[in-house]
Amino acid sequence: MIGAKILQFEELTSTNTYLKENAEHLPDGCVVTAQYQSAGKGRLGRQWIIPKGLAVSLSFLLKDPSYDISLLPILCAVATAKAVEETTGVRLQIKWPNDLILNQKKLCGILCESVIKKDSIFAIGGIGINVNQQPVHFSQESLPYATSLRIEQNCSFSINKIESALIDSLEEVLCQYQKYGFSSLKPAYCGRLYNIGKEVQILYREKTVVATAAGIADNGNLVCKKDGKTFLVNSGEASVRGLYGYV
Ligand code: BTN
Repeated sequence: MIGAKILQFEELTSTNTYLKENAEHLPDGCVVTAQYQSAGKGRLGRQWIIPKGLAVSLSFLLKDPSYDISLLPILCAVATAKAVEETTGVRLQIKWPNDLILNQKKLCGILCESVIKKDSIFAIGGIGINVNQQPVHFSQESLPYATSLRIEQNCSFSINKIESALIDSLEEVLCQYQKYGFSSLKPAYCGRLYNIGKEVQILYREKTVVATAAGIADNGNLVCKKDGKTFLVNSGEASVRGLYGYV
């Protein structure tokens, strides 16, 4: 059960790293939060830096899950969107595969990792939600496309309430996936997906390809079309941008 144990820290290097290093001794479903991460990690080797106490940095541990976890980033995106929407009243969209966007800017990032120790596979879901940062916290050079709930809604929000809604939502979404599969969650994911039907730049190993995003495969890959041909883009390796900016 997600939240079987909850560990709250003032400071860690990274909540994901903490769970990776301590997975063997922690229970399945353990949640770790930190007010500040000194070495927060983003996707594709990037950094994730946030000022102390202004955002959600939360990770959870799955120990030897009995179901396919390759869709974990997508499941986390659905759970996080639902939790933020429920606690704040905003409606979020998803930029494939798992950025949550508000008014076309990035509000939330998700990094899922796995680690093998002895004979066990541990999966870690890490979620960062920009909550109470001000414009000054997003430097235009490095984070021109980022935003926070406070910037977009002009008021501050309780980080504790969002964290607790997120834990409940993760439990609900993962149970639904386990019982009924991804098809039962596809409407919640695709209904929020920003990219579908749009032209996107696919960024993969220094290369950029422009194509039309046409849909989502059952394994979470992005189905794209170009010059009458259809191909799949892998969510672990590539990211997409709009033709003229972040989305
Ligand atoms: C991204 O969009 O690049 C992913 C960002 C993921 C950030 C979260 S914050 C909690 C967890 N701990 C980390 O070090 N990273 C993830």
